[in-house]
Amino acid sequence: MDLCASVTPKAATRKPVTVVTGASSGIGRAIAREFAAHGYDLVIVARRRARLEALKRELVNDYAVRVRVVEADLYDPATPDRLARLLAREPIGIIVNNAGTLEGGSFASMPRGRVLEMLQLNVTALVTLTHAMLPRLLARGGGRIVNVASIAAFAPIPWLGVYAATKAFVLSFGESLGEELRERGVTVTTVCPGLTDSEMADAALERAPGLKPWRGQLFAPATEVARAAYGGCMSADPVVVPGLTNRAYDGLMQAAPRPLRRFLSRYIARSLR
Ligand SMILES: NC(=O)c1ccc[n+]([C@@H]2O[C@H](COP(=O)([O-])OP(=O)(O)OC[C@H]3O[C@@H](n4cnc5c(N)ncnc54)[C@H](OP(=O)(O)O)[C@@H]3O)[C@@H](O)[C@H]2O)c1
Repeated sequence: MDLCASVTPKAATRKPVTVVTGASSGIGRAIAREFAAHGYDLVIVARRRARLEALKRELVNDYAVRVRVVEADLYDPATPDRLARLLAREPIGIIVNNAGTLEGGSFASMPRGRVLEMLQLNVTALVTLTHAMLPRLLARGGGRIVNVASIAAFAPIPWLGVYAATKAFVLSFGESLGEELRERGVTVTTVCPGLTDSEMADAALERAPGLKPWRGQLFAPATEVARAAYGGCMSADPVVVPGLTNRAYDGLMQAAPRPLRRFLSRYIARSLR
């Protein structure tokens, strides 16, 4: 792992620093841009350094914020602690755990390595980074945590079972932790986007090329998710579900008895295959 870091020369910090994982593309990139637009200095984390450096140039230029680039691989279980050590002097007040990965298809034929990568990135890295950084937020007297889950958290999804389970974990963990920290000044917001335009969407459309003409209708812009995530974080909303259709899906799955939920999710998953 290469935890190379670079910092803009401009050092004035006006607001607590926001860490965004998975900021090199899609939703994370849009979230970084949203926080920068509101004057937050940033630490942006991902593996593709060139992408992060390009984003840094844009954000420094557009919003005159301070941006620190950290190239790091969150598949490596040691990364969250190393990240926490590297950022020991940063006045971090907000953590956005956004980095995630998706592998779909038959569980029986899914490569074991991809199963473990999903668990590592979507669950273990998120929990470990939160665990490593939380004492800092508590010591500051407060802070905010934003975890990016998915509408996949609301029900089991055949052929997407591990991914959906990781997101159900993120939602459950976030709601529990938020209640635990209620009196201690740290808020936890879990964001549950539906289909969103990103590299994950590129990969999904490669698997289902027939849907490509419908990209604009099927996938919401990442900027919409980012706006909802920022708003929810600032309002300390425990759960944010951007978009009316996604909120309707949430309501339906919450109201449905478990067997009906399984039937509906099997029906939806089959029709999308
Ligand atoms: N797109 C959707 O429809 C959708 C819907 C609901 C929820 N989500 C969730 O939204 C989050 C962002 O996904 P996205 O749609 O924006 O996908 P994306 O465009 O593929 O972005 C994923 C981000 O995660 C980073 N990442 C992947 N593996 C990493 C690793 N090992 N170490 C560090 N960073 C890593 C990637 O950066 P590098 O490759 O540079 O490392 C990238 O910045 C994920 O948690 C996803 O589950 C997405």
